[in-house]
Amino acid sequence: MTKNRPIGMFDSGLGGLTVMQQLVKTLPHENIVYYGDTARLPYGGKSRETIIRYSIENAIFLIEKNIKVLVVACNTATSQALDKMQQIFGLPVIGVIDPGAEHAVETSSHGRIAVLGTRGTIQSEAYQKAILQRSPNAFILPIACPLFVPLVEEGCIDHPATRMLVREYLMPLKDQNIDTILLGCTHYPLLKNLIREEVGEHISIIDSATSCAEKVAVLLDEMNIRKASTPPLYQYYVSDDPHKFQILGSSFLGMSIKGVETKQ
Ligand code: DGL
Repeated sequence: MTKNRPIGMFDSGLGGLTVMQQLVKTLPHENIVYYGDTARLPYGGKSRETIIRYSIENAIFLIEKNIKVLVVACNTATSQALDKMQQIFGLPVIGVIDPGAEHAVETSSHGRIAVLGTRGTIQSEAYQKAILQRSPNAFILPIACPLFVPLVEEGCIDHPATRMLVREYLMPLKDQNIDTILLGCTHYPLLKNLIREEVGEHISIIDSATSCAEKVAVLLDEMNIRKASTPPLYQYYVSDDPHKFQILGSSFLGMSIKGVETKQ
């Protein structure tokens, strides 16, 4: 039965677990297969061609697991490869950028939005276009923050070096009257507290994960393929060391991770 088939999701590594966390909250009965392409992380500085190739390979791996919907949990992969995947594959493919842009436009009081992301995501202008489509007069301040991902991967969430970089990367916000910061990268929700300390309480800080999960829920209901209330099954696959993923992943997911397998 389609309802019992899992939702498939992939990211370049651990970061997409922040999206899975929201998916689990919003859709607590769904079976989920998560694939982290840890051997090829990070995607953030790679070329469009490479990211498209990796994304297609990841999607095929998950489709072979009989998934009903594919969630591209990686912002960089969404920005470069979502269109291509939607063209190629005959199942619904949802990314994080449109839901994130929608959330930013809804949240922003004066249409002054800073978008933080990897170099690839910012250079693709995918968030900028998605925001302007919904709010043509919005002022957008895009900021690439390439050093955030390695720091978060190393667990340096509250480290002086991370604090320094937060200050440095957010410098362009000064005097721009930004009212909303959109965290356009899977890893950045873990830096939300540091960013909040830097910018103060008057700016809204949002991410794409929650709105992406809501969009998946709407889609499942529209297609009448939401699973009934039986306990969910979570499966995890990686392309590199499963042990490291299991240990580090729980802080991204907010719950313990068991039984991580290596992609064959
Ligand atoms: N998952 C990526 C993203 O959301 C960040 C990590 C990477 O660069 O691979 O853009």
